[in-house]
This record gives sequence, structure tokens and C-alpha cells, in this order.
Amino acid sequence: MKTIVIQVPEAGKDREEALSLAGAAIKDGKLVAFPTETVYGLGANALSQEATEGIFKAKGRPQDNPLIVHVDSVEMALSLWGELSSKWQEQFQLLAEHFWPGPLTIIGPVAPHIPPAVTAGLDTVAVRMPDHPVALGLIRHSGLPIAAPSANRSGRPSPTRAGHVLEDLEGKVEIILDGGPTGIGLESTVLDLVSTEPTVLRPGGITLEDLAGVLGPVGYISGAKKGERVRSPGMKYRHYSPEGRVLLVEGPKDKVLAKMDALLATEKAQGKRVGVLASREALAQRDFSQADLVLLAGERKAPETISANLFDHFRTFDHRGIEVAIMEGIEPRGLGLAVMNRARRAASKIIIVE
Ligand code: TXA
Ligand code: MG
Repeated sequence: MKTIVIQVPEAGKDREEALSLAGAAIKDGKLVAFPTETVYGLGANALSQEATEGIFKAKGRPQDNPLIVHVDSVEMALSLWGELSSKWQEQFQLLAEHFWPGPLTIIGPVAPHIPPAVTAGLDTVAVRMPDHPVALGLIRHSGLPIAAPSANRSGRPSPTRAGHVLEDLEGKVEIILDGGPTGIGLESTVLDLVSTEPTVLRPGGITLEDLAGVLGPVGYISGAKKGERVRSPGMKYRHYSPEGRVLLVEGPKDKVLAKMDALLATEKAQGKRVGVLASREALAQRDFSQADLVLLAGERKAPETISANLFDHFRTFDHRGIEVAIMEGIEPRGLGLAVMNRARRAASKIIIVE
């Protein structure tokens, strides 16, 4: 298969043509990668078992990992869910009003006509309305709900640019719609509304604080074990990662910087190619001059500047042959929680200083 990359202009006839061609490909059971406000998605007709199976093949995705279905209206979302309790509907109404279109994925009981590939056989389905004109235009042109995981090879960092998708999936996807870099840079918040208390399964662009403002307290399953000082999870727990090792340093700011310096010296003494990923505030205090590559993460006080480029930086480390990347941890609050969730999963080792 030859992958076609189409730049989607902001407006005009060429834009409509691009969306209509891609919409027809979706109707035809093909795979189309498209930008959203979070990351690029690898889309297929969510109502077709065969089309959605194609997603798993292209990504090398484990069969037991369900997909998110993308919609362009509340009506389309409701058509995917089965019988809904009145409490569920009340909460959904509030969430849709406040956060859709946007980076919030909502889990509800699945309707019987949704193919099992989408849900990985679960009795629930995850749905979101993306806040991106190209994504919404694609859904409208196809007239179908679109199942889409992030458009990366399984285990790699999610793509935030069309070039990342091409790098991972060339020859495996029919069309890549290039809508430029994505804004948020991390995947949507996944909220389970089926369990007794609304529970965040994956933190993202809609923060725990945002959700609590609308629903009251929400649960959060972090997956991290409390009281663990140093963690070296096996390869099977790594995700979103560059090829090299990531050493993530967390704790009080000054101690973190001192530890990063020490790690840099140790790794350089062992002859490694070492990268550093640090905030503007950190780089104002330290120059990490021994490092082979220093990347500016963004600003601590504005975590959206860090989330926007995190995955692109991970890929840059790979392109530059970095064997060990030393990363500064930030406060896991607001969007910082999502940043740290991805960083911890990418890390070969988490070093907590006190
Ligand atoms: O921002 C996003 O969410 C991007 C863009 C393309 O929309 N999509 C994305 O999809 O990140 P993916 O497949 O990479 O992540 C989907 C996540 C997985 O963690 C999956 O396990 C979870 O959503 N998920 C999907 N359906 C679920 C369900 N029924 N119950 C629990 N978790 C579910
Ligand atoms: Mg993914």
C-alpha cells in the first residue's frame, strides 16, 4: 500500500476535497490518520469489525486493548451506548456541556451493534468528541463514528505531527491528513462513568480539578505503587518510550537538578550518549554542558508548554542516537499529572530525591 499524505488547508475547495476523499476511504473500510487536539489518531469505521481489526494489524496493537470511538455530535455518541442509568445520563450531560468537543473520553455501556474489536470484548465503549476541525470534518464527511487509537506503532510515543505517523506507519495507512502539530500533545483524559464513583483511568487534557469542578470528587487510578522510592519496571510496563533509557528524576527542584548533574557525570564517564530534557527554569540555573543533546521541555509554571512537545522530544532523542535521556520531573498537578503519567511510563528508572 502506498501511503498518501495530504496537507489540509485551513479553508477552501482543496480542504473540502481532502476531507471528502478521506471520508470516502473511511466508508470504504480503509485506514485514515488524522489530527485531533491531543495527538494524531489512526481511524477506521467504528461500525465495521473488519475495518477496526485493520487498526490492530497496522499498529501491532495487542488485541485486548480497546479503542476510542470519535463522534461529531452528542446524538452520535448516544447511538453507541446501550441502556443508560439516569445517574449516568445526568453526569454525561454535564460533562458534554462543559468539555465537549475536547480531550475527554467517556466510558459507558456498549450498544449491541458495536463490533467486538472496538471494545476488545468488554461490555463498555469509550467515546469522545475531538476539538479539531479536521477530525470533525472527517467524521462529518464519512457520516460514521470513527474508532481511532493514537497513530503510532504500539509502544512508541504517540504522534503529534503528521511526520511521526509517516515514520511509524508508512505503507500501513491509506491516507494521512496533515493538519500541523497537535495542540495538547498528550492523549485525552479517559473517564469511567460506569463504576460507582466516576474514575479517571488515564489523566489528560481535562484535569482532575476540571472534572471535580463539575462532578464533585472523582477517583483516579494511577497504577503507581505508593512508597516506592526507585522503580525499574520490566520492559512490558514501558510505553510511550524512546528507544534509549529514560531516567526520570523527581523531588524538590534544587535536589532534582543536583541529581541530574550527578547522573549526567556518571553516564558520560561510562561513555554513553546522553540527552537532557529540562525546563526553562532549570536551564536558567544549569547548563548541562557535558550532555550530547539538551532539549528545552517548556516551562514548569505552564505545563501545557511541556505536554505540547514531550513526545516530539522523545522521538528527537531517538533520531539523535541518545542512549540515556535524563528527564526533570515536574509537579503532578493539573496538566502536570498527565505529563508525569506519561513520563513515568516511559521511564526505565524513576529516581526520587528528598
Ligand atoms: O486523545 C486520545 O484519546 C487519542 C486521540 C486519537 O483521540 N486516542 C488515544 O487512543 O489515545 P489509544 O488507543 O492510544 O488509547 C485509548 C485508551 C487506552 O488506554 C484504552 O485502554 C482505553 O482508552 N480504553 C478504551 N476503551 C476502553 C474501555 N471500554 N474501558 C476502559 N478503557 C478503555
Ligand atoms: Mg496510544
